[in-house]
Amino acid sequence: MASGIYECLSKISEKITANKDFLTELDREIGDSDHGINMARGFAAVMEKLSPDESDIGAVLKKTGMTLLSKVGGASGPLYGTAYMEAGKVMAGKVEAAPEDFNAIFDAAIAGIQKRGKAVKGEKTMLDAIIPAKETYAKKISDGANIVEALEAACKSAREGVEYTKTIIATKGRASYLGERSIGHQDPGATSSTLTLEAILDYMKSK
Ligand SMILES: Nc1ncnc2c1ncn2[C@@H]1O[C@H](COP(=O)(O)OP(=O)(O)OP(=O)(O)O)[C@@H](O)[C@H]1O
Ligand SMILES: [Mg+2]
Repeated sequence: MASGIYECLSKISEKITANKDFLTELDREIGDSDHGINMARGFAAVMEKLSPDESDIGAVLKKTGMTLLSKVGGASGPLYGTAYMEAGKVMAGKVEAAPEDFNAIFDAAIAGIQKRGKAVKGEKTMLDAIIPAKETYAKKISDGANIVEALEAACKSAREGVEYTKTIIATKGRASYLGERSIGHQDPGATSSTLTLEAILDYMKSK
């Protein structure tokens, strides 16, 4: 049975690639103008490595993570790479994702990002989108929502997280060199994480 994981990653890749210039522009303002370029290059390599008939979600996520780790430089390559690899571990051998699997994926990805990057919420990073998204997702599922409803709410929380990054000072990564001047700018990694979640939602809606 095809699990749809290839289609889901295709959607993520398309969304990141379509927003390549936007992400790079955001990184020009508070970083080194490479986030969109890094991410689009990474996903181009991922899509080359994957084949449409692969259905083990864990194996595909692991391959995705390893490819991002090896092809994307800077901070985001290792961080996203670890997130996908850790998510792959919890999905090993699975061909379907149940509501609770997304909880486990969120938890594993966040733990991986934090282990690598040593950041917490409120430092103007991708975690400021992903952590609120995870919290909302878990709450919605426990309240009885289905995956699409819970992901819809999670995406909204992620977008709010991106807005929040405009109000705070960066204390991790290159943006931290700007200190107070980083205020007013949205974090590129929080933005790419939100796009990723939106692509997953698009995919789940299309199923
Ligand atoms: N320690 C960290 N933990 C979590 N996310 C981080 C961390 N450091 C940077 N990031 C995220 O990575 C994004 C920048 O990714 P990019 O692809 O531009 O890599 P980079 O240029 O090496 O990054 P940076 O200049 O921030 O070190 C930031 O917007 C932020 O969301
Ligand atoms: Mg950068």
